[in-house]
Amino acid sequence: MSDGASSPGALAEPGAEIERPDGAETQGGPARVAGRPDPAAPETVVVLDYGGQYSQLIARRIRDCGVFSELLAHHVPVEEILARRPSGIVLSGGPASVYAEGAPRLDPALLELGVPVMGICYGMQLLVQSLGGRVEQAEVGEFGRSELLVGDGGMLLGGLPAEQTCWMSHRDTVYEPPPGFAALASSTGSPVAAIEDRERSIFGIQFHPEVVHTPYGTEILTRFLTQACGCELTWSPAGIVEEQVRRIREQVGDGNVICGLSGGVDSSVAALLVHRAVGERLTCVFVDHGLMRKDEGEQVIRTFRDTFKVPLVAVDAEQRFLARLQGVVEPEAKRKVIGEEFIRVFEEEARRLSAAGEDAEARFLVQGTLYSDVIESGGGAGAATIKSHHNVGGLPDDLRFELVEPLRALFKDEVRAVGEQLGMPERLVWRQPFPGPGLAIRVVGGEATKERLDVLREADHILQEEIRAAGLYRELWQSFCVLPDVRTVGVQGDERSYGHVVVIRAVTSDDAMTADWARLPYDLLERIASRMINELREVNRVVLDITSKPPGTIEWE
Ligand code: XMP
Repeated sequence: MSDGASSPGALAEPGAEIERPDGAETQGGPARVAGRPDPAAPETVVVLDYGGQYSQLIARRIRDCGVFSELLAHHVPVEEILARRPSGIVLSGGPASVYAEGAPRLDPALLELGVPVMGICYGMQLLVQSLGGRVEQAEVGEFGRSELLVGDGGMLLGGLPAEQTCWMSHRDTVYEPPPGFAALASSTGSPVAAIEDRERSIFGIQFHPEVVHTPYGTEILTRFLTQACGCELTWSPAGIVEEQVRRIREQVGDGNVICGLSGGVDSSVAALLVHRAVGERLTCVFVDHGLMRKDEGEQVIRTFRDTFKVPLVAVDAEQRFLARLQGVVEPEAKRKVIGEEFIRVFEEEARRLSAAGEDAEARFLVQGTLYSDVIESGGGAGAATIKSHHNVGGLPDDLRFELVEPLRALFKDEVRAVGEQLGMPERLVWRQPFPGPGLAIRVVGGEATKERLDVLREADHILQEEIRAAGLYRELWQSFCVLPDVRTVGVQGDERSYGHVVVIRAVTSDDAMTADWARLPYDLLERIASRMINELREVNRVVLDITSKPPGTIEWE
């Protein structure tokens, strides 16, 4: 990662090396520039990830406070951190004990940079251990809500309530701050729960300011950012639009750009940004595989072609996909078939577009890669795996594109803010996640036939309408229907029926890694179920999935 690949502001990376799903590597365009390429790049706070479950959340909260923040692995060389010219460094929590063999360490050079440092949880323990304080394993751990008793308070906690709630998650505990540090607070299980050495601008907190269960967490982070780091809190995701437009123009020059639109938030926002930058030189290709929700295909076409006037090629490929899905039952096999067919259709369109005019060859391909994809694929070392489902994955070797990835530095919520800034309709901006292979993987245990897909689509439509009417759509991470290949007996009118079972799945979640089943109101459930049974002849039973993740997954597959 020594190439500064994910330096602040360098959201789109010309020449990113792409790890392709088939294992081959492609390289396109000029080499990346080391370090922060642009003096106008935003103030940045680097969060070093020691493996804590909240590390991404720390970066997100800092951004929420108004400072651009990047998450880097704890072991990146100091030069790489310096290349970001950070205004501050935060050491995250982590699962290890500072005493354990092989536990992640703190490079002492970090504390000599003259950059303010704040350690959170494990990060604080590392600071204390490195600087001569006392950390030991306590007899009992301190997990969850805890009472914080503020003493001296110092810069971080001064003036805040003397007793407040905070969120803890640790077993090792700080008993004595290092020389030169003031102990600011204690808690039920931590004799020293916060420390600071203002002279050296080093701070530590045992609790988690980034989670909502620490009510003064944002205030504490803000104090670190403004008073210690001198940040101005001016960054906002919507503010990057103009900057991105400039970067895209710089990257693309007078080349042509192609974008595979899926109707999802990421590809839509990426496409609109690129369209703002290069106008008609962007062509979007929307492959309608017939596996989308009711009316969604038309909505995508209407929004892009009619509202935003983006050149759009819409391919009605339903018959092709249905033909390929015949006899396919196993979910992975469905995914594979859909993925392959998608690439085939996209490839045909890309070639057709190239053939349409002498200079019309599209050299650039827009990808809606997000910061979480970058982090998951190794923290921005240019190894962003092309999302292989709905987006274009595994394009043939002779179709070479340089990637344009304008969302590479943004979290999902921030992408939505950019979408709003670009005037995208609320319905698109707040669309719940939808799997690339679409409804096909929600027909479970059987073949995704046209008949089944239509039943599922109609049932899903009723669910969506009711959830929206109840004002719950945005509160839920996802709400959808599943159609198992099962028929059950019922009585409708005076007749015995033998119909489909529709499963309602609705979950709340922050990131899809874990999810809880949503407690939908009974009267809403009743309305949904009776509408499904009354309006859909084929359906005679509706059930509710009350499985959380884990142990379940969100999709049934
Ligand atoms: P699971 O079922 O693993 O799903 O709990 C986690 C999240 O991922 C979404 N999902 C997909 N998203 N392409 C996508 O873009 C896919 O192929 C795909 N499959 C699952 C799922 O809807 C949930 O939000």
